[in-house]
Amino acid sequence: MSTVTAESTREHRITLPVLARRKRRGQKISMLTAYDYTFACIFDTAGIDVLLVGDSLGNVVQGRDTTLPVTLDEVVYHTRLVSRAVRRALLVADLPFGSYQVSPEEAVRSAVRCLKEGGAHAVKLEGGTAVASAIERIVAAEIPVMGHVGLTPQAIHRMGGHRVQGRTAKSRARVLADARAVEAAGAFAVVLEGMPADLAAEITDALSVPTIGIGAGSHCDGQVLVMHDLLGLGDWTPSFVKQYAHLGALASQAARSFAEEVASGKFPDEEHSYR
Ligand code: KIV
Repeated sequence: MSTVTAESTREHRITLPVLARRKRRGQKISMLTAYDYTFACIFDTAGIDVLLVGDSLGNVVQGRDTTLPVTLDEVVYHTRLVSRAVRRALLVADLPFGSYQVSPEEAVRSAVRCLKEGGAHAVKLEGGTAVASAIERIVAAEIPVMGHVGLTPQAIHRMGGHRVQGRTAKSRARVLADARAVEAAGAFAVVLEGMPADLAAEITDALSVPTIGIGAGSHCDGQVLVMHDLLGLGDWTPSFVKQYAHLGALASQAARSFAEEVASGKFPDEEHSYR
């Protein structure tokens, strides 16, 4: 168990060697999603190690039921907004559905856009053995890749919903094989989503690259949350999420107060008017 505090681990910039060292030393990695400049500034300054422009933007920014319609243009656009804020964090752009599955060549082209136009430092993609060749090609183009196995939202139709993976022996073996394939293909880290904590622990011990968990228990080398879940901005909260603030309720109260004061003529008063 590491006794290192967040303050004493404050590195100047979070790079791949820094993350690899964290794993070796047992120092945890924090990762949050971000989709715009304002929140990216807040998270980067707060010392979050990795910022992910997740394709979850389809859910929390665009209000869609799945991440499938998110386009590469949209990910590149949001990555550009976040990149203007980043001073310390590693910035990862999520390759959306359809941007890397057709061929390894297209996967490289998509990843190149995330770095060249979006300002990302790395890309993330979902899947295991099936996407190993895409990961190899992207890595060969000098673009760092973060893997993502277990509950992979882009496979919602195969999984039959957002279902915890690895609960049967067959599914468990598949998730483990996927994690190993992603590491062997050259990924620098792997997101483990929606799986029993003991499976995530087994994978974390088996891999030499860091694992970042979401709904995967406490043994992972790091943890990631969608910012809307962390801040209490969403309309529902999965059971694995801990809400660290209730900004949705605060924002609602602020809007109500504004509407009441406009209606009553209380706002704007002298103090908030030009002379
Ligand atoms: O898109 C996303 O936000 C993600 C995280 C949940 C890991 O992939």
